[in-house]
Amino acid sequence: MENGFKLTRTPNCFGYPRFSPLTVFTPGKETLRKKIREDAVKYLFADKYQMFDEIARVAINELSNTTGRSIFDVELAVEHQIHYSQNHNGFIQNRLRERCFRIKDQLMAGIKDLGLHFSPGDKLIDVGAGSGVVAQMLKDELELQYAFLTDVVDYRYPDVRHTRGMDFRLFKPPFEKIDCDELYQIGIITNTLHHCDEPLKVFSTLADRLAPGAVLMVVESCVGVSVAEVRNHLQSMVIPYQTLFDQQGNIQDDQLEYFAMNDDDKMLYGIFFDWLYNRIFLNENINVPYNFGTPSDWNMHFEKNGFHVLQTYLMGFDQPAAIEFHTLHIIKKK
Ligand SMILES: C[S@@+](CC[C@H](N)C(=O)[O-])C[C@H]1O[C@@H](n2cnc3c(N)ncnc32)[C@H](O)[C@@H]1O
Repeated sequence: MENGFKLTRTPNCFGYPRFSPLTVFTPGKETLRKKIREDAVKYLFADKYQMFDEIARVAINELSNTTGRSIFDVELAVEHQIHYSQNHNGFIQNRLRERCFRIKDQLMAGIKDLGLHFSPGDKLIDVGAGSGVVAQMLKDELELQYAFLTDVVDYRYPDVRHTRGMDFRLFKPPFEKIDCDELYQIGIITNTLHHCDEPLKVFSTLADRLAPGAVLMVVESCVGVSVAEVRNHLQSMVIPYQTLFDQQGNIQDDQLEYFAMNDDDKMLYGIFFDWLYNRIFLNENINVPYNFGTPSDWNMHFEKNGFHVLQTYLMGFDQPAAIEFHTLHIIKKK
C-alpha cells in the first residue's frame, strides 16, 4: 500500500472511526484476522473456510495496488471479484427467516420481562421493515389488528404482502416525515439504524409517529461494550438466543475473547461482518455506513429526545448470519 492511502472514511454519526473492512487484511491485524476467521467458520461457513481465505487473497492483492484509487474503489473491486452470493443465496435466505423468528422471540421476551401489555386496537409501526417477517409475527403474537411497515426498498416476502391488516409505504430521503396520519402505540426498528446514513434523523422521524406512552423496541449492533458492563447485565439472561451468559450466569468463553479486543478492533470486527454479510453474501448494494454506537450513546440519544429507557438487554452475537454485538433497547415515549 502506498504511503498516504486512507483506510478510514469520515467518522460515523457518533464520531467513531469508520474503518474500511479491508483494514482486517493489513499488517498488524493478524490477531483480529485470526479471530474473525475462526468466528466466520464457526458461525457462518461451517467447513467453507476457503471463502475467508479467498477474500483475504483478493483483498491483499487489491490493497497492494492502490495508486490513483480511493478505498471505495478498492472495496468495490474486492466485492466484484468474490462470487459467493449465488452459491450462498439459499443458505442466507434460510438464515434470514430464522433470524426474524429469533428477533420476534427476543422482543416478546422483553415485553414479558417488563410486564408490558397491548390491546388488539394498538397499532404497530416498523421502520426498516426488510422482509416484514418480524412485524408480521409480532402482530400475530400480540393479536394486533394493524401494522404499518416502511423501508427505503420494498424487500417484503410474498406472504407478508398478502397478510391482512398490514400496509407498506416506501420511505424516501430526506426522511423528514413518514407518510401516514396515524400515531402508533408500538414501534420497532430492528437492525436498521446503523444502515441509515442519518440514523439520528430517522429515529426522530419514527419518534414523531409514536403516541405519548408508546413503547419503542430498538435492536442495534453496538460497539464499545466492556466485560465489566456485561457482568452487570444479568437481566439479559431472560432473552432467548443471547450468547453472553451460560445457564449459571457466567460469561461464555468466546465472548471473553471478544471483550479482550481493544475498542478499534471491536469496531472493525463489527464492520467486517456487516460488510461480509451485506455486500458479499447479499450483494444488493445495501447501504453500510457502519453507524455503530455504544449502548449508552443510543440511550443518551433516546433520553434526550423524549423517551425513558425502560431496559437495555445486551445479547451478544445472537443472530445467525449477522455476527455483530446486539442490544435490545425498550424505551417509552414520555
Ligand atoms: C438488516 S435490514 C433489517 C430488516 C428488518 N428490520 C429485520 O430486522 O429483519 C436493514 C433495513 O434497513 C433499511 N434501511 C436502510 N436505510 C434506511 C433508512 N434511511 N430508512 C429506513 N430504512 C432504511 C434497509 O432497506 C433494510 O431493509
